[in-house]
Amino acid sequence: MCGIVGYVGRHNGVPVLLEGLQRLEYRGYDSAGVAVVNGDQLRVHKAEGRVRDLAEGLPKRVNGHVGIAHTRWATHGPPSDVNSHPHLDTEGNIAVVHNGILENAAALRAELEADGVTFTSDTDTEVLAHLIGRSTHEDLEDAVRDALAKVGGTYGLAVIDARQPDRIVVARNGSPVVLGIGNREMFVASDVAALVRHTQQVVLLDDGELATLTADGFTTSTLDRRPTQKETLELDADVSSYDKGGYDHFLRKEIADQPTAVEGTLRGRLDHRFATAHLGGIELTARELRGIRRVKILGCGSAYYSGIVGANIIESLARLPADAEPASEFRYRNPVIDPDTLYLAVSQSGETFDTLAAVQEVQRKGGRVLGVVNVVGSSIARACEGGVYIHAGPEISVASTKAFTSTAVAFALIALHIGRVRDLSPADGERLIGGLERLPEQLEEIMATEEHIARVAGRFSDATSAFFIGRVGGYPVALEGAQKLKEVSYVHAEAYPASELKHGPLALVTTDLPTVVVAPDDHLAAKNISAIEQIKARGGPVVAVGHRVLSELADDTLIVPKNEPELDPILLGVPLQLLAYHAALVLGRDVDQPRNLAKSVTVE
Ligand code: AGP
Repeated sequence: MCGIVGYVGRHNGVPVLLEGLQRLEYRGYDSAGVAVVNGDQLRVHKAEGRVRDLAEGLPKRVNGHVGIAHTRWATHGPPSDVNSHPHLDTEGNIAVVHNGILENAAALRAELEADGVTFTSDTDTEVLAHLIGRSTHEDLEDAVRDALAKVGGTYGLAVIDARQPDRIVVARNGSPVVLGIGNREMFVASDVAALVRHTQQVVLLDDGELATLTADGFTTSTLDRRPTQKETLELDADVSSYDKGGYDHFLRKEIADQPTAVEGTLRGRLDHRFATAHLGGIELTARELRGIRRVKILGCGSAYYSGIVGANIIESLARLPADAEPASEFRYRNPVIDPDTLYLAVSQSGETFDTLAAVQEVQRKGGRVLGVVNVVGSSIARACEGGVYIHAGPEISVASTKAFTSTAVAFALIALHIGRVRDLSPADGERLIGGLERLPEQLEEIMATEEHIARVAGRFSDATSAFFIGRVGGYPVALEGAQKLKEVSYVHAEAYPASELKHGPLALVTTDLPTVVVAPDDHLAAKNISAIEQIKARGGPVVAVGHRVLSELADDTLIVPKNEPELDPILLGVPLQLLAYHAALVLGRDVDQPRNLAKSVTVE
């Protein structure tokens, strides 16, 4: 979704701003723009399309020591040059870039128009530019504060003023703003990906805070003018993890990253002595853990599907009722919050608006929420009262792969941790630890089968529709497999519990509709075999993903190594990521930035 970059310092900011925008491209956007102060004038350039279109259209002479830039994902008004940010006030002194949605923009716009203001765009953000420009305060921070007092909704924003060319004012409410500290220069971005090349020292703004950045440093304060003290964080970011590392696509690189990502999730957390997992972020005593009566996992999209994998593992190891629910639905259904339920909010980005809102709903009603999050210091991580970072490394591709897998591993750690406080035996704990330790090597074994998977992918690139089915632990694997195929290849795919096939979807099975059957060699193998036979009897092509023993039955089989039954779903999902990737390649799709999608969905 939208991205912000800003620079103030001794150098020309334009290259920093453009490079920063390129780093944010992965988030998904439809247009881009940049504004710098040059002399006492704002220079503003915007373009619908890619950042490279903006860069190509930028006159060589454009430069400035202070500037802001933006990638836009349309909410108010279609993608176009005029709707791209930055937006200006009537006098052309103030430039604003904004992530989020202003809820009372329509009313404010009507008031401003009645007062003679002419708008040049359809956006909510332009309202802010005019409010700031019309403020009676001369100081930019005061003018921004004045304007923010009138708006409702969410924002991460950065503002410059041609008359005060030594500063950027930024503010946050519900949309991330990260300050980067340089050597007599300051940076700002909505995502550390845009900063890591310039600095490893960052400051995270909190909701309700403003900051003024100059080349020499920054000050922060609340909306009601109270100065705030900020902690500087040292990023532990490997700059190369934001590059493709020799692969053609981030998606492919991140699929290949999974053995390392899982090692990151497991590092320092397995305890052979007590056959358990140590999770420093779960500050619950053994007694409190025993007091939990239920586990409810909340997340969106693939994070929700990894939550279903997690709920199955928790229920089976900790013997606690556990389920997962889309956070986007949960937050609207006035849920009953039970004090004995442990709520787990799962999110790769830690910025998904619906998941954050679900966390807030639980907390408002007195519930306890822990986070299972990848991005350290993200909004969801900070809103929760603890949790588990999955440490999968930055995930750039819009379609989640390594975060899905590492999140499922994190749930297995949580299940082991809670299970060992409850009734899981040391022998079973040790069995699980052994299984977790085997995962990185087994993931490598799956990667080695890529050529075969790429050949099978041809079945899906030729199809207009596909089914994915699985039972119990295999069902979320089917859901995620269908999700990946849809996202990156645009081939229509539906997932069903295998047992539901005969209750309706079987009517669609023909020779043209391939079905992926998630068929591990487990206690449900006979049931999956019967599903395969039912599909084949109707001429439907079947691709099985499972263990070697079932390999004779289907038209094609994607074989994964066997682990412990509770952990098998973690491996079964991986060939389906490669399947979707190769189907998308055949179809010539933009695999890293699928149409209409954004990496983190920070609006409703
Ligand atoms: C995954 O491939 C999707 N792009 C999407 O479903 C994603 O998982 C979802 O939007 C949740 O994102 P989060 O993990 O950052 O909260």
